[in-house]
Amino acid sequence: MSNSSYVASVGKSDQERLSIQHETFVNGTEAFLNRLKIVEGMRILVVGCGGGDETVMIAKKVGPTGTVTAIDISSEQIAIAHEKINEEKLTNVTLKILPAEKLSELAEKFDVVYCRMVLVHIPNPQMILQQMKNCAKNGGLVACEEPDISSCFSIPPVEAFKKHIYFLCEFIKKRGCDPDLGSKMYSMFQEIGLSHINIDFSQPAIIDKRLKSAASLSAKSCKPQYVSTGLASEVEVDEIILQIEKELVDQSNTLLGQCRMTQIYGRK
Ligand SMILES: C[S@@+](CC[C@H](N)C(=O)[O-])C[C@H]1O[C@@H](n2cnc3c(N)ncnc32)[C@H](O)[C@@H]1O
Repeated sequence: MSNSSYVASVGKSDQERLSIQHETFVNGTEAFLNRLKIVEGMRILVVGCGGGDETVMIAKKVGPTGTVTAIDISSEQIAIAHEKINEEKLTNVTLKILPAEKLSELAEKFDVVYCRMVLVHIPNPQMILQQMKNCAKNGGLVACEEPDISSCFSIPPVEAFKKHIYFLCEFIKKRGCDPDLGSKMYSMFQEIGLSHINIDFSQPAIIDKRLKSAASLSAKSCKPQYVSTGLASEVEVDEIILQIEKELVDQSNTLLGQCRMTQIYGRK
């Protein structure tokens, strides 16, 4: 199922790709959340929570005395997040279908306002970042993990994978978004006057076949968008998917460098 506000498909049909994506980034996210010093009793806002993976991690950290409010524009994603929250028997999470553009509708102020891989898919990230800041209490943190999508690579280089990453970046640009937003985050944080900025990079290296299959699953998921926007023909995308599987996923001596994530937080 496609979602107009997001390049890849979301929802049930894409759960394997999304769960692989989470497995790939979970260690980096855990390290980042630890740097934020999230402790029991805190109130956290997660923007663009998707299927709820980071929401679950954060909800466990703040414990029953804390709260997590998690919003997403997609009702499908929120439904999946609901299932995860129920499976984990978490009672401290409130999920809402809400576009980030309407964050001002939330009356509460939060200790930490967090997002992962969301601003890169939004045409007006600076405005959303400002709104995220508005949602933080004075002295609270705004924290983001955003990628440079063009930084994905393979060893050895696989032409078909390079093409997929090129199409992905071009498609994101066609939608008025910046596929390499990660690199811009430091200046964006400075522009909205966040203080005590802390920044680091995280880039997972993947050798496991199942995790490497994210490369072909991602191309499959983006196929309808590549074709409908005229970036590539159906035959061309099918060939790209096949070559990624053959030359990258199925080879035990290849390595996938996932995108470099900028992990940044600053104080209001
Ligand atoms: C790449 S997914 C990331 C999901 C989750 N944060 C994660 O890291 O697993 C991007 C998410 O942003 C959501 N999204 C895109 N545009 C949005 C907007 N304007 N407001 C709120 N959510 C949005 C999508 O529905 C999707 O769930």
